[in-house]
Amino acid sequence: MRTRHVTPFILPRVVSIGAILGTLGATVCSAQSLRKHADRIGILVGAAVNPAHFGEAPYASVLAREFNMVEPENIMKWTTIEPALGQFNFGPGDEVVAFAEAHGMKVRGHNLLWGIHNPAWLASGHFTPDQLSKILRDHIAKEVGHYAGRVFAWDLVNEAFDDHGALRHSIWYDQPGIGLAGKGTAYIEQVFRWAHEADPQALLFYNDYDAEGINPKSDAIYAMAKDFKSRGVPIDGVGLQMHIFNFNTRNLPTLAANMARLAALGVKIHITELDVGIPVDAAGHPANPADLEKQAEIYRQVATACVAQLACTAFQTWGFTDKYSWIPWATKGKSGDGLPFDKNYAPKPAYRAVLDVFTQAKHVR
Ligand code: XIL
Repeated sequence: MRTRHVTPFILPRVVSIGAILGTLGATVCSAQSLRKHADRIGILVGAAVNPAHFGEAPYASVLAREFNMVEPENIMKWTTIEPALGQFNFGPGDEVVAFAEAHGMKVRGHNLLWGIHNPAWLASGHFTPDQLSKILRDHIAKEVGHYAGRVFAWDLVNEAFDDHGALRHSIWYDQPGIGLAGKGTAYIEQVFRWAHEADPQALLFYNDYDAEGINPKSDAIYAMAKDFKSRGVPIDGVGLQMHIFNFNTRNLPTLAANMARLAALGVKIHITELDVGIPVDAAGHPANPADLEKQAEIYRQVATACVAQLACTAFQTWGFTDKYSWIPWATKGKSGDGLPFDKNYAPKPAYRAVLDVFTQAKHVR
């Protein structure tokens, strides 16, 4: 009896100062956090994550403090989920869902159909259209079914259009395709119908890059969304990836107009993969520290456009700390430091710009 009594008494005393400081710190920070203001205006603020980092204390604590949504950067893609035909591995995805549920966050799933980054068994499997159709339908049924009720929205189809607005060639479309080669967006429609069967509650998104402003690619996406909506194909939203490297902001002047035309169709808009890579030196540090302010201005403009458009219900960055970002890899080291927190998890001007926008926002969704 005595031991049982003493142990809980001593332990709180030992940790009490740290616990109090920790609580104070958390209180101060949470008063300032993105998610607190996002909650107030009814917007989701998210980050792409890798569950391999959940054991790193600042990674987990900043994530839980600042964001009310997460999306797995890679581990709900085919390579992890179906590493061999008919073998499913939901372990890492389940970790992301468990983290989100423990911290009151929503989960966006990403992605179920993409022409690239597929496992070799699939990409080089020389399957017939009939076989591919069965493989894809089964994958969608298993993955969307597994996460039904726990993943609220999916990037179902990723990057199906090229820069000219034509459908990309892929195993899913026409190489050899799932039986609908040459029939335009019919194969995409089929996939939306399959996913809707697997989880009628999940919001289903088409997601692409460089289609944020008005251009031939976003025109093609708009036309598809309009057609799908008019015929009752279950599309709920369009994801605007928003990768911006080295100040290529050509999409920003027409971002609001593109959002407005999508909103008029009755689809939601999610900013899904925002990052703003800046030129870095050989050591990976900003080549010019003033660029951090230019970067913040871009974050401010994107956040402002989203907050001003009621159909824009999620604002997500592709990662959140410069410690873990795909930009150096994607730009072969030319660009980096594109996220709102630096490599030591300190907030950058970009963070404060988004926080400002959320703090001042009046429209509640
Ligand atoms: C990227 C990941 O960040 C990388 O780690 C991976 O090697 C390749 O994929 N568009 C998308 C994302 O929809 O899935 C991509 O993520 C970035 C571009």
